[in-house]
Amino acid sequence: TLSSSASTDDFLHCLSASIPSNLVFTQSSPSFTSVLVSYVRNPRFIAPGTHRPLVIVTPTNASHVHATVLCGRRHGVRVRVRSGGHDYEGLSYRSLNHESFAVVDLSNLRSVRVNAAKATAWVDSGATIGELYYAAAKASGDRLAFPAGLCPTIGVGGHFSGGGFGVLQRKYGLAADHVLDTVLVDAEGRILDKKAMGREVFWAIRGGGGESFGIVLSWKVRLVPVPPKVTAFIVPVTVADGAVDVLTKWQQIGPALPEDLFVRVMAITDTAIFQSVYLGTCDALLPVMSSRFPELGMNRTHCREMTWVESVLYVYVGSGNPIPATDMLNRTYPMDGFYKATSDYVRDDQPIPRDVWAEIFGWLAKPNPGLMIMDPYGGRIGTVPESATPYPHRGGVLYNIQYMNFWGAGDDGEPHVRWIRDLYAFMAPHVSKDPREAYFNYRDLDLGRNIVVGNVSSYKAGKVWGEKYFKGNYKRLALAKGRIDPDDYFRNEQSIPPLVPRK
Ligand code: FDA
Repeated sequence: TLSSSASTDDFLHCLSASIPSNLVFTQSSPSFTSVLVSYVRNPRFIAPGTHRPLVIVTPTNASHVHATVLCGRRHGVRVRVRSGGHDYEGLSYRSLNHESFAVVDLSNLRSVRVNAAKATAWVDSGATIGELYYAAAKASGDRLAFPAGLCPTIGVGGHFSGGGFGVLQRKYGLAADHVLDTVLVDAEGRILDKKAMGREVFWAIRGGGGESFGIVLSWKVRLVPVPPKVTAFIVPVTVADGAVDVLTKWQQIGPALPEDLFVRVMAITDTAIFQSVYLGTCDALLPVMSSRFPELGMNRTHCREMTWVESVLYVYVGSGNPIPATDMLNRTYPMDGFYKATSDYVRDDQPIPRDVWAEIFGWLAKPNPGLMIMDPYGGRIGTVPESATPYPHRGGVLYNIQYMNFWGAGDDGEPHVRWIRDLYAFMAPHVSKDPREAYFNYRDLDLGRNIVVGNVSSYKAGKVWGEKYFKGNYKRLALAKGRIDPDDYFRNEQSIPPLVPRK
């Protein structure tokens, strides 16, 4: 499947017929590297030896995307699409299979058009979620928001494709749950809306993961109401002060609190940091906390009233200082660490016992430790049926765990990656099983990779990772892929393989 240099030249020639040359960067262009790294959020994947794209195309309108796909098909060059570049394995801009590929970088396509009266917005994939939040707040006097992730620089394209959750998940569910329409460029270069792509493909692109079904250019979303002032709080509890007990309690309280209240936990070194956003005032919050979760010792001094947009940054940065809402517009918010991450889900039939939490704090005290982030479920995210969208981790989930470990440029990261893998093995008896569920947007290639057989990713091999991310929805995703891209043109190491029923 590697294209020859002749076909590469033909590909570039084909692009030049439809796309202005200042939007096309080949490896010999002086700015190739700066364009490549501009949206790389994990510098692990730009190290020497990484298989890079032949060319990066930075479209400014849909016809450029259409032309790139047609040229790629004609000349045997695959396309990987990049929106915000936050992929945990860098699959939007590197290939482990050493396939020759072009990157379609959507960062120029980032308009956000809010209709405050109808509480909807059209947002392009290259926008960040921070830009969407900011625009929704501005157009509505801080009364409209959107239920998606915390980190403001995340790209809409990858994030919505894989689900997308954050501080509003208990009240409103996932980003993907609020998508009303999309514009998709498929493997034939066709530009399709919801109706034209058909029910199954429209189902698949709202949670079935990026890259597999084509290039989503823009999304029509339903915005959600929030009060103009919300209350955020951050309460750290050390092990010496009883973190093990409080965390053990939180597992059942966090998912059962009123939907307006989101209390997540970051466990790092010897501390459990409770980070929260409440859709109401401090006065209304205090009685809820003292009756439902007195163990936390939260009181009036912890309350910080602010707009919803400010609360997202307050929790994300976690420094305790208020952060101006305009920081949401910073597309290059600092995030320079090298990292490895993976995920688990804990279900209500098996909360983690107290003595195991004590052992987990032992892991967090080892050399080169990482951290764990626990996001509470329950509420709206849990009421949507498992097959209503591709994202299946719904009813019965207490919380999601994300494990992360960071290191700096001088380190090779080996002990940090090993820490994650060893802790993941230790956690196996205490988390969801058969399958051990994982979140697609916290992509981890340790869970499995595609095997290409006869130039098509194997459905059977993909089950290994696919059922962890999608449970029983994996097969339906593969059938949707079989409809829209039976030749498997859009693919990566963890894209949905096509399943085409025998006639
Ligand atoms: P990127 O551009 O790398 O794309 C990710 C994948 O989607 C790639 O396979 C890519 O090819 C594909 N893709 C991208 N654009 C596409 C498009 N327009 N059409 C089709 N496919 C496309 N998640 C979460 O749910 N809640 C959270 O709070 C956070 N927080 C968080 C913090 C930080 C610091 C990071 C790095 C990541 C998160 N995430 C997260 C995970 C995040 O949701 C996930 O990495 C998204 O896939 C990122 O989308 P990007 O567009 O930025 O990535």
